[in-house]
Amino acid sequence: MQTFLKGRDLIGDLDFSKEEVETVLEVAFDLKRKRALGEPHPYLRDKVLAMLFFFSSTRTRGSFEAGMAQLGGHGAFIESATTQIAHGDTAQEVGEIYGRYFDGIAIRHCDWLEGNKYINEVAKYSRVPVLNMQCDIYHPFQCLADLMTIMEKKGRDLRKKRIVVSWAYASSYLKPISVPQSLILQMPRFGMDVTLAYPKGFELMPDIVEQAQQEAKKAGTAFDIVNDMDEAMKGGDIIYAKSWGPLLTTADKVKGKEMQDSHKDWIMDGRRLKMANPDAIYMHPLPADRDIEVTTDVLTGPQSVVYDEAENRLHAQKAVMALTM
Ligand code: CP
Repeated sequence: MQTFLKGRDLIGDLDFSKEEVETVLEVAFDLKRKRALGEPHPYLRDKVLAMLFFFSSTRTRGSFEAGMAQLGGHGAFIESATTQIAHGDTAQEVGEIYGRYFDGIAIRHCDWLEGNKYINEVAKYSRVPVLNMQCDIYHPFQCLADLMTIMEKKGRDLRKKRIVVSWAYASSYLKPISVPQSLILQMPRFGMDVTLAYPKGFELMPDIVEQAQQEAKKAGTAFDIVNDMDEAMKGGDIIYAKSWGPLLTTADKVKGKEMQDSHKDWIMDGRRLKMANPDAIYMHPLPADRDIEVTTDVLTGPQSVVYDEAENRLHAQKAVMALTM
């Protein structure tokens, strides 16, 4: 068990070794138990986390803010539009100055080809840990909560369990590619076989896919890519079907929407869930386009674990904050 993570950033999923992720999960399960028993756990008394948002959020904001309070500290919600960032404050200013006020800096910046660069630039100048609350490339805290949820439902030994990471149609907006990228990077390290499914044009970043394939090779797990949603379901133990934008093909919102609209049949429904293993679970980070991306009967049905998954954001994030700040 790796116990010294003080001062560490978490920006990309592979920033923490497998052993360090195992430590995070141990602590997360302990914190979940403590909260259930009403045991105080003020590991971050008097500490303050800056929570800088360039993009909207329901779960991430709520869970980081509640988590800091439960750890005896405070989460300061800062919306980028209310800062002087638009008037010239650079990532250097944010890193240097917030690093002197706060004990940690958490940032959500999902703009394509900008978010990850910005977070890394802040980290370069910050004297305190920088935590990625989602960027254009990674959503590491979602992925930790997902892994925790999968272990709760399928056991700690995940070897030979198959996770299906599938594209699904959505009409609301071009969703980031960070969730599927984080999943394919992290899950092979824990023994899971991966099936990645999407229609042509919805590819993920080639270097991320290559890294994921290398992780699978190291772990001795399978990694398949298919372009058929029905085929992807076969043998699935964990069905993680959600939408993402065709950002590697076009970042243009109108062209991207046209591409999405030509795949309305990629909906996660009961017929498809039946093609997976009988005890398969359904996962989605939320928000979902109901009855467009996933049917309500799947999203709220007995095989869905989406609310446990959302809850585990709280416990996983508290673990990382308690270990790093
Ligand atoms: N899953 C997730 O990150 O949710 P929010 O966008 O609401 O924070």
